[in-house]
Amino acid sequence: MAEQLLPVKLYEDVDSWKTIMFLYNSALKEVGTKMEILNDEFQHVHKYNPIEHIKSRIKSPESIVKKLKKNGYDSSVENMVLYVNDIAGIRITCSFTSDIYRIANMLSRQSDIKILEIKDYIKEPKPSGYQSYHMIVTVPIFLSDSVVDTKVEIQIRTIAQDFWASLEHKIYYKYEGNAPEYISKELRECAQIVARLDDKMLSLNEAIKQNGFHETGDDNDEIVSTD
Ligand code: GTP
Ligand code: MG
Repeated sequence: MAEQLLPVKLYEDVDSWKTIMFLYNSALKEVGTKMEILNDEFQHVHKYNPIEHIKSRIKSPESIVKKLKKNGYDSSVENMVLYVNDIAGIRITCSFTSDIYRIANMLSRQSDIKILEIKDYIKEPKPSGYQSYHMIVTVPIFLSDSVVDTKVEIQIRTIAQDFWASLEHKIYYKYEGNAPEYISKELRECAQIVARLDDKMLSLNEAIKQNGFHETGDDNDEIVSTD
């Protein structure tokens, strides 16, 4: 039932809620398509896929309200549009750190994308050890009689960084943010191992490329992920 899904204050404004959610869904589609096109073009020109996989999600009404509350705002459609930047979220996983910057640069150069914020947690990891490249962008959504710039949070990370983040996320939830110190310490150590692994894999790949290796682009014998 809609009443149960939607927190009360937002439900009062259900028409604008629906319109806004339609915009965020459209924005996810736009950015998802942009990413797929960049990946396909890269495969076409360089015989190489910088993107391993793409996942997108819309933030749940409960999480939106929780975030507004945490930051001291009332639950209203206006406040969520103004203050919650990750209602539409897309996560892009790559093999190498160089792919992350390549994708971020390609996207930044697109004239319809406006960059509102960049947080480079690869150059400066979070105290938890978290590494990822975050962008808040807007993408124009063309409606029948207007254009609405709509915010999307883009997280770009390597497979290894993603592996780390999903385990850390599980631990964070299990201990409600208060994991025992030895676990946090181990996680920080794992994050350093991840950074070293990513560096080594990148240098190995560079070395292979210099030796004239080219990917065939034929991945028929690989197990293809469905997400
Ligand atoms: P949030 O209120 O969490 O959205 O933080 P923020 O608005 O300061 O943005 P930030 O760029 O720091 O983080 C946004 C998102 O990155 C989070 O919602 C998570 O998906 C992810 N993230 C940030 N820090 C961590 C972390 O320490 N561990 C994990 N697993 N994910 C993180
Ligand atoms: Mg978030």
